[in-house]
Amino acid sequence: MSDYVLAFDGIGQDFPMPGQRATIRVLDGISFDVERGQFVAVIGPSGCGKSTLLQMAAGLLRPTRGAVHHRGRAVTSVNTEVGFVPQQAQLFPWKSLAENVELPLLLRGVAVSERRERVAGALNAVGLDGFERHFPSQLSGGMQKRGSIARTLVYRPDIILMDEPFGALDAQTRMVMQNDLQTLSLQAGATIVFVTHDITEAVLLADHVVVLSQRPSRLLANIPIDLPRPRNMFEPFRNTGFEAAYDAVWTVFRSQIDIGRAH
Ligand SMILES: Nc1ncnc2c1ncn2[C@@H]1O[C@H](COP(=O)(O)OP(=O)(O)O)[C@@H](O)[C@H]1O
Ligand SMILES: [Mg+2]
Repeated sequence: MSDYVLAFDGIGQDFPMPGQRATIRVLDGISFDVERGQFVAVIGPSGCGKSTLLQMAAGLLRPTRGAVHHRGRAVTSVNTEVGFVPQQAQLFPWKSLAENVELPLLLRGVAVSERRERVAGALNAVGLDGFERHFPSQLSGGMQKRGSIARTLVYRPDIILMDEPFGALDAQTRMVMQNDLQTLSLQAGATIVFVTHDITEAVLLADHVVVLSQRPSRLLANIPIDLPRPRNMFEPFRNTGFEAAYDAVWTVFRSQIDIGRAH
């Protein structure tokens, strides 16, 4: 029996063009599976439909064709068992860090003593002990991102969906966050689908890299990355096999980038 937690089965998506009868085909027959405990990176050019795919897994959008299956059941409404870490941290500015992280538990009616314990655990897991009473404006961008991840971890989702979560961070903060995410995912055995447009980030973090084409997007390759763990996030080239893994992704992805065109 397969141990797939999440399966994208022949996903297609057409969006209406505003003010026109025509539609735009965004995704065209995308199929791939995510196994329990796996880290899958999805890479593709801007506008190819990466965020759209995650929205489908979260049940926020029904695909035009095909279906997403979570634990063998088609996702047809909001999927409360997945956690979503958006590109921007989106913490509520008028709530403290602890209150922000507590929110999903409040919405689920978790008792106060358990809420306290789980908020403390989630903040500890992302290295934010001692900042419980800080408001988002009093935290750095990296800390806000950690808070956003803690808010997802706190309700122990079955799968964590991350949409270019580190895109807006500076280069150093980003490496530290990648390293922390690796530690977290190794310790917790989490199942993660991670959207990025950064090949190095995808290769360093993932067990599999799914490469999508430009719109209308097709799956170009699903590449296993067998580098030993833990991987060195700070010196990518020191990981044995990194070059070959990067090449495997780049060879497929390069056709999707207009090299030499004036941007
Ligand atoms: N709700 C929507 N209505 C119409 N078009 C949309 C909608 N959501 C996304 N799109 C279009 O679908 C394409 C893919 O969007 P998106 O999934 O955000 O791409 P990516 O995350 O890969 O950059 C874009 O061209 C975007 O304009
Ligand atoms: Mg996107």
